[in-house]
Amino acid sequence: MFRKITTLVATAAVSAMIFAGSALAAPITIKFSHVVAENTPKGIAANKFRDLVAERMPDKVVVEVFPSSQLFDDDQVLQAMQLGDVQLAAPALSKFGRYTKQLDLYDLPFLFKDMNAVEKFQKSDKGMELLKSLESKGFVGLGYLHNGLKQLSSNKALRVPGDAAGQKFRIMTSDVLAAQFQAVNAIPLKKPFSEVFTLLQTKAIDGQENTWSNIYSQKYHEVQPYITESNHGVLDYMVITSTEFWNGLPDDVRTEVKKALDEAITYGNQIAGDKDTEARAKVVESKRSEIIELTPEERAQWVEAMKPVWKQFEDTIGKDMIDAAYAANN
Ligand code: SIN
Repeated sequence: MFRKITTLVATAAVSAMIFAGSALAAPITIKFSHVVAENTPKGIAANKFRDLVAERMPDKVVVEVFPSSQLFDDDQVLQAMQLGDVQLAAPALSKFGRYTKQLDLYDLPFLFKDMNAVEKFQKSDKGMELLKSLESKGFVGLGYLHNGLKQLSSNKALRVPGDAAGQKFRIMTSDVLAAQFQAVNAIPLKKPFSEVFTLLQTKAIDGQENTWSNIYSQKYHEVQPYITESNHGVLDYMVITSTEFWNGLPDDVRTEVKKALDEAITYGNQIAGDKDTEARAKVVESKRSEIIELTPEERAQWVEAMKPVWKQFEDTIGKDMIDAAYAANN
């Protein structure tokens, strides 16, 4: 009898160990939610990350990518991340206003002359400082991902700031972007990315601002007869995760995941420029929308009209931060 009980206990213990072992071996799932199409810099970088992880640690981690707002819109994703419903996202830097005002810097109109300046600033101490600006809110900034410079599209030809007066423009959830459009007497409306095409198509709004890659992949050029090549602002992303999830990963897994993510971000940033050029060419080819190239004099008028926004947000962003970002243009 005693032998029987001992055997039963031993068998149960072995089964428990096997069960615990297999439970430990179950791969960790990382859900990566984003709002853009797959054939965009962010979509490509997200898929690259998924593929690198699948290649290098198939038994340990599985990355599931959800593009085109399939899982969450950007205004929901950070909350979902805090609840553990999603582990990775890369919202535009313009969408963190509820959590920090420091990133408002990136929305100042005509701050960066090109994406090289954006990259240079982001690699500087101040740029790295901003990458950590969400730490106190429970998020880890894992890297900056590029898209490109924004253009203005409308149902009206916009050559000088006065042309935008009274027009309704969709913007991301940024107070700086709101101020930027108010500076030219236009009406800014904060709306989710997933609604923009319909808002434009139904003429509920007159225009929007976005990169060539987003304009083309969202087909805005099919419902907007004019696109002004203004390059007036930057659309860039922060790849983030929650501190709880990140710190809860086994050390070796965290190291490998970060390595794969760094490589995917570098790749995404390398192809972003080409995607921008390619998308612009496709818009031209479509002949659906007229591209307005501003003369230096016309551009100077937009700069003059929008530049006061810098002063308006100087106290919250910090003059030292603005100066450092502007210096990256040299
Ligand atoms: C994105 O590129 O992630 C979306 C940007 C937007 O909301 O306009």
